[in-house]
Amino acid sequence: MDGEKGILRYRGYNIEDLAEKSSFTEVMYLLLYGSLPTASQLAVFEGSLTQHTLVHENIVKVFEVFPAGSHPMGQLMTLIASLSSFYPDSLNPNKSPEATNLTIIRLLAKMPTLAAMIQKKGKGHPVLYPQNKYDYVTNFLYMTFGNVTEEFTPDPVITDAMNKLLILHADHEQNCSTSTVRIVGSSHANLYASIGAGIAALWGPRHGGANQEVLEMLEYIRDNDNGNVKKVVAEAKDKKRLLFGFGHRVYKNFDPRAKIIKKACDNILKKLGVHDPLLEIAKELEEAALNDPYFIERKLYPNVDFYSGIIYKALGFPTPMFTVLFALGRLPGWVSQWKEMRERNEDIGRPRQIYTGEIQRPFVGIKERK
Ligand code: ACO
Repeated sequence: MDGEKGILRYRGYNIEDLAEKSSFTEVMYLLLYGSLPTASQLAVFEGSLTQHTLVHENIVKVFEVFPAGSHPMGQLMTLIASLSSFYPDSLNPNKSPEATNLTIIRLLAKMPTLAAMIQKKGKGHPVLYPQNKYDYVTNFLYMTFGNVTEEFTPDPVITDAMNKLLILHADHEQNCSTSTVRIVGSSHANLYASIGAGIAALWGPRHGGANQEVLEMLEYIRDNDNGNVKKVVAEAKDKKRLLFGFGHRVYKNFDPRAKIIKKACDNILKKLGVHDPLLEIAKELEEAALNDPYFIERKLYPNVDFYSGIIYKALGFPTPMFTVLFALGRLPGWVSQWKEMRERNEDIGRPRQIYTGEIQRPFVGIKERK
């Protein structure tokens, strides 16, 4: 990443090229193994993912303990961490490169199955089992939007959009969740536990949880301020609220992912024939903020979360699922960073702190304390 110039590359490839010309599984391979796959390497990789998409039947029973309406991210975190119980050979991350690779493939393969189950269970619908005839992304869409009662017809517009969104989220240096995965994994905790921790970090509204917040903010403007963005902008300037989907710790010029997503958002809504007033509100909000000295001086620009929710909504995902979709996209980045750290046998992570309290004091018994 070059935050000043707004550049993002995965292993040297521009994000714009990858989003336009590759598939999510190609990007997964690139991040995991270092180079874009040849056609035969990709076929082997996708074949191995296909072989591991099913989850243990007892995992389906875990859903019975979640109360109705529990947040999908809490469920995802629990389910992913629980994979360590179902695959005890994953507990030792130093067993062998082959064993580690199998643990990784299992996780990448099962994540869409679990994410789709969360959406289905949330609706009270029967879950759909993966189908080997579909590729990775189509399979996820089938399990999420298919129905036991009828034939599923994949829509190439939706599959393309999903591939693009997942690619754009796939890796992003040492953001909060990725650093969490690395620091947990640095104690030689197993992959599933490390990724569970990363999901927890992603959930927060200042990180991946912002995509849900953006949509709720836009709906608030639509329902309370007649679509007028001025009040929300004024409240953000008065520090009464954050403008969700704005600002980034590293990008201080523009977020290249947001540019691609904004364009994709226009195209996808047009292709799907969806007219969503939230898109107009988002554009007006962006315009108002980009022309306001408060945001200009602080170099606050739309980030990846600003427009993604509008696309997810158009594709049919419920708002609480948005951050799960972010997690699905970020998974190969988290896993690759965890893998790299294990391969380099890095030391345990141990941030230091600057302590500003008392240095040394005599102990006073409880009766003498004032
Ligand atoms: N709305 C209003 N004001 C903001 C916003 C915002 N979204 N973001 C930052 N500011 C203000 C701060 O109040 C601060 O003002 P001050 O100088 O008067 O004190 C100034 O801009 C700098 O803010 P920092 O907190 O120092 O910026 P930082 O780089 O630490 O934070 C962050 C980045 C956490 C992303 C922040 O911009 C934010 O909370 N944004 C909204 C949440 C969001 O969209 N998160 C997703 C980020 S992308 C991702 O994780 C995928």
